[in-house]
Amino acid sequence: MAIESSCDDTGAAVLRGRQVLSNEVAGQSVHEFYGGVVPELASRAHQSNIVPVVNAALNKAGVSKTDLDAIAVTRGPGLMGSLLVGNSFAKTLSLALNIPIIYVDHMRAHILAHFIDDGSPTPTFPFLSLTVSGGHTQIVLVKDELEMEVLGTTLDDAAGEAFDKAAKILGLGYPGGPQIDKLAKTGDAEKFHFTKPRIEGLDMSFSGLKSSFLYLVQREMKADPEFLNKNLNHICASFQKTVVDYLISKVSKAADQFKVDKIALAGGVSANSYLRTSLQKEANLKGRAVYVPKFEYCTDNAAMIGIAAHFMYNRGQFGRLDEQPDPRLSFTHS
Ligand code: KG4
Ligand code: ZN
Repeated sequence: MAIESSCDDTGAAVLRGRQVLSNEVAGQSVHEFYGGVVPELASRAHQSNIVPVVNAALNKAGVSKTDLDAIAVTRGPGLMGSLLVGNSFAKTLSLALNIPIIYVDHMRAHILAHFIDDGSPTPTFPFLSLTVSGGHTQIVLVKDELEMEVLGTTLDDAAGEAFDKAAKILGLGYPGGPQIDKLAKTGDAEKFHFTKPRIEGLDMSFSGLKSSFLYLVQREMKADPEFLNKNLNHICASFQKTVVDYLISKVSKAADQFKVDKIALAGGVSANSYLRTSLQKEANLKGRAVYVPKFEYCTDNAAMIGIAAHFMYNRGQFGRLDEQPDPRLSFTHS
């Protein structure tokens, strides 16, 4: 069984080998009102969700607690209060059932979601992962299930965060990514232009783009208070194109530099329809293969924690009960 509670979704999944028997997730609508995740409220919601979500995962899988061989949990990165709920629960289960505990890195788990046995094609090693979520933006060289190297990372905001902040400026709800994606479908992506971040190498930056976006909206609204009503779809399409083109240019550069012809998307932003189609188009031109996990394995979920734990279990990488969650857990090399 795997548990994920790093941010605002409480997830529990049961896996047998690489097969997902159940993958339950309880979202937290409490944050919508604030336009972002409120850590204290997230911890409280995890506390009320975790028992029902775990029970639902066991019921759906048709297994009882005593059938479990190991318990996996996200160790970090994430919000400390949220992580503590999942970690305390997992430790208790490990102790009560006398089964090993496996602490999983959330970022690696996003990448390993590709190895869930669901009939979709699995990348072979080595491949590049473009991991894009609400908290992180990384280009990772994946050498095998456990050996990974971060080639580039954002120096400030994450790509998903950029979507969420832009949506907030536009008065759209949280999370903003899916709403911008939807509105962008009918918009003209060439209508507005934003200052593109200029960062050398494979690192990235999104905070300047957010400011450029804010200034444009403020300036236009001053000139015409109806600006947003008239241009919401265009501004969403233009912003989305700027972020996505930037991500693709970086990952494409990494693919050339490291001579890797397989690119895998991971993290919540990989649900973005324009990112998926543009990356595929670029890959077709360059003779590369693109891999995208099933939608439910892109956003935060416990099945990805389970698949990462599966590989760790096979190598005997178990945790101790006195270990702490790590909100800033990160890797540059494995
Ligand atoms: O991986 P995830 O569920 O959680 C984190 O680990 O952060 O990613 C959530 C992020 C949010 O920022 C959300 O706005 C973004 O993924 N997102 C999208 C889309 N769906 C989710 N961004 C752009 N387009 C989407 N369709
Ligand atoms: Zn995530």
